[in-house]
Amino acid sequence: MDIIKVKNSDELGIKAAEIVASRLKTIENPNIGLATGTTPEKLYANLVQMCQRGVISFKHTTTFNLDEYVGLAHDDPTSYHYYMEKHLFSGIDINRENAHVLDGEAKDLEQECTTFEKLIEESGKLHMQILGLGLNGHIGFNEPGTPFDSRTHIVELDQVTIEANARFFDSIDDVPTRALTMGIGTIMEAKEILFLVQGEKKADILRKVVYGEVTEEVPASILQRHPNATLLTDIDL
Ligand code: F6R
Repeated sequence: MDIIKVKNSDELGIKAAEIVASRLKTIENPNIGLATGTTPEKLYANLVQMCQRGVISFKHTTTFNLDEYVGLAHDDPTSYHYYMEKHLFSGIDINRENAHVLDGEAKDLEQECTTFEKLIEESGKLHMQILGLGLNGHIGFNEPGTPFDSRTHIVELDQVTIEANARFFDSIDDVPTRALTMGIGTIMEAKEILFLVQGEKKADILRKVVYGEVTEEVPASILQRHPNATLLTDIDL
């Protein structure tokens, strides 16, 4: 894993946007996997600015989001549909038909996962997957214990994740307990991984991810085996 040390979240947002922008310019029809959460917010703000200045375009880009909660309406401010609309899609020139976010309201959730997986396959796989890191080592919503060869699936969220994400909801009781997530096997097939980790509270888990044993108990540790993964972080490792 290549490691790029940055000073703070502003620099992380700038450097990450530079890397994504350069792929958008060099790949003809880029397929990009997107993450939500606090970490990529500045990356998306920079991409929106670059797109509005005409430096980059998403017209030929297809996106696939990592995950979505089960049971939240798309216009619910805590859903990842809403997050993506707010932070990225409403500010860029992407063709909405090419912006794929798992539907947590689908009647048949298993089918939704199968269809999503097939869409990625048919698009020719991901050129790049953007990832954040959960406090328990999760990537997407692949919680500790998820098989490394998993494909898009339904998950029961870990208590650590529910507590960490409660900050986005009125009360912890409002945090959904289930979600849909791209699998670890799917993520690992991306040609490139851009792994963003920010803030001292993630220092211990990040050291385990980068230097510890590769184990399903620390899902992100599998990234040690990815041939083209770049970690951007403000944490001293
Ligand atoms: C979100 C996702 C999660 C987050 C992780 C870190 O789509 O896949 O794995 O990347 O929980 O979240 P933040 O950035 O809010 O600390």
